[in-house]
Amino acid sequence: MCGIVGYVGPRSAQDVIIGGLRRMEYRGYDSAGIAVVTDSGLAVAKKAGKLANLITELADSPLPPSSHGIGHTRWATHGGPTDGNAHPHASYSGRVAVVHNGIIENFASLRAELEAEGVVFASETDTEVAAQLLGREAEGGAALADAMRTVCGRLEGAFTLVAVDARTPGRIVAARRNSPLVVGVGEGEMFVASDVAAFIEYTREAVELGQDQVVEVTPDGYAVTTFTGEPAPSHPYHIDWDLSAAEKGGYDWFMRKEIFEQPRAVADTLLGRLDAEGNLVLDEIRIDDAELRRVDKIVIVACGTAFYAGLVAKYAIEHWTRVPCEVEIASEFRYRDPIITPTTLVVTISQSGETADTLMAIRHAREQNAKVIAICNTNGATIPRESDAVIYTHAGPEIGVASTKGFTTQIVACYLLGLYLAQVRGTKFGDEIRDLLDELEQIPAKMQQVLDGIDQVAELARRFVGQRSLLFLGRHVGYPVALEGALKLKEISYLHAEGFPAGELKHGPIALVEEGLPIFVVVPPQGRDQLHDKVVSNIQEVRARGALTVVLAEQGDEEARPFADVLIELPHVPTLFQPLVAVIPLQFFACELATLLGHDVDQPRNLAKSVTVE
Ligand code: G6P
Repeated sequence: MCGIVGYVGPRSAQDVIIGGLRRMEYRGYDSAGIAVVTDSGLAVAKKAGKLANLITELADSPLPPSSHGIGHTRWATHGGPTDGNAHPHASYSGRVAVVHNGIIENFASLRAELEAEGVVFASETDTEVAAQLLGREAEGGAALADAMRTVCGRLEGAFTLVAVDARTPGRIVAARRNSPLVVGVGEGEMFVASDVAAFIEYTREAVELGQDQVVEVTPDGYAVTTFTGEPAPSHPYHIDWDLSAAEKGGYDWFMRKEIFEQPRAVADTLLGRLDAEGNLVLDEIRIDDAELRRVDKIVIVACGTAFYAGLVAKYAIEHWTRVPCEVEIASEFRYRDPIITPTTLVVTISQSGETADTLMAIRHAREQNAKVIAICNTNGATIPRESDAVIYTHAGPEIGVASTKGFTTQIVACYLLGLYLAQVRGTKFGDEIRDLLDELEQIPAKMQQVLDGIDQVAELARRFVGQRSLLFLGRHVGYPVALEGALKLKEISYLHAEGFPAGELKHGPIALVEEGLPIFVVVPPQGRDQLHDKVVSNIQEVRARGALTVVLAEQGDEEARPFADVLIELPHVPTLFQPLVAVIPLQFFACELATLLGHDVDQPRNLAKSVTVE
């Protein structure tokens, strides 16, 4: 949560920082603020609400010219979303300003210590203790980087901090523990940010900062040390996507653009996974095949949409590998004392690679000597860095807060992992694996087919504008799809929506059904007779009680057709791959309905894209 940008170089700091904050806004939008260093000290502007409020304020009263500053867009944790709690926060003398992402867990005791010394706090935030501590060090004569190292040594919790000192122009100091930070390396200019999208317009050369490191940045270079001042190795890398990938490209919402990008994203995730002999290769797997053969349990750990991708994956992984697979919400994982041994394989799924709950689950698993494979969309993020191996989904940047291409590419990456394990463990023959890969390769074209007919779903959204409640049903892999369809609707339409296993309906939820209640039902392909027929019976059960049924079934499914008030036809795919096509109309429906309701689809209330607090 929270987006951070810092700049030092020849350009207008205000312009660079506001541009960067625009692309960081997906990380939080409770308030925004900027501080620039000028000859006469710090100039600060901050405003509650979305970045647009700050931009309006700056249009009326621009900051003095400066080529050195920091900015922040906030997802509130400590202290409400007010002007006063907006970052940057300044030290008592007004000399040092700081922006922060994360939670300083011991802030209360630090605040009490500072207040006992007479420091008067201007906000309710945990961040301000860092500003005041840095100010105290700086007033005592410490250079900003030394002050940062000393202060970080006193902080507990998760933090990325970026600071400027009015008496040291042309220099930014940043630090990180458990929250993301990247440095952008330009020619005669440097950037720091939560995510490369903030500076991709200016440079595609970046440096990853490791855990517990401090970086001091000037227009011409950077120096990385540990919190205790030892020089630390840096990890430069080249960013292989450009600005256009992070912009809307003519769509009204990033979410809509990302829904339409799914065929490409899935195709890219499948690219280059076969060697010359046709064997599946996953380059990023750095775990011995012998160790993978010893695995006797798989635990998938994730949050939100990624958790639902994991639920889908369980069906395929168990079917192909015959290894028991559990799926667990990351925030619940370590607190229930899970049984994890060196032969457990923990698979974490995270689009951003920064989700704090998932990261903490990884650390817990590794403490128990389990091997961890991350499925992630963000190169160099903390989660893949702290895992034994990574399979990257090549979805490109996902900006819309409600995940779409993240979900489908995560499922594909899990399938690749499942097939790889089946290959290594010999639970599937090579030709069976290749047949499945062939089927997977046809998925992008099938997804495109669904998108080509998506106008029908737009019409459906218009019809349901007045609804307050909707249900989603599915069985087998259709069940997590139902959960995801309901989640999309909650996230961006703010409607009551629930997903249920179709068979469980009669054990309680059926009492919710009343005349005209819309129920979306994901019907499995016809090949699996029992599964298919059972769901068709479930449709009849709810229809008999007055529900309005929206049935997602494969083309030519004449058994489902008579019970559909609205029929959405899906291309024929194997049962296990159906989520990849069935979820698209549900994503689009939520996007369309939220648009009609006048909601901000890309930045839904109370949510953030990357949740870096537990
Ligand atoms: C947040 C987002 C969700 C996302 C979840 C997990 O809650 O709003 O859309 O599914 O985090 O994010 P991750 O980056 O770990 O996949």
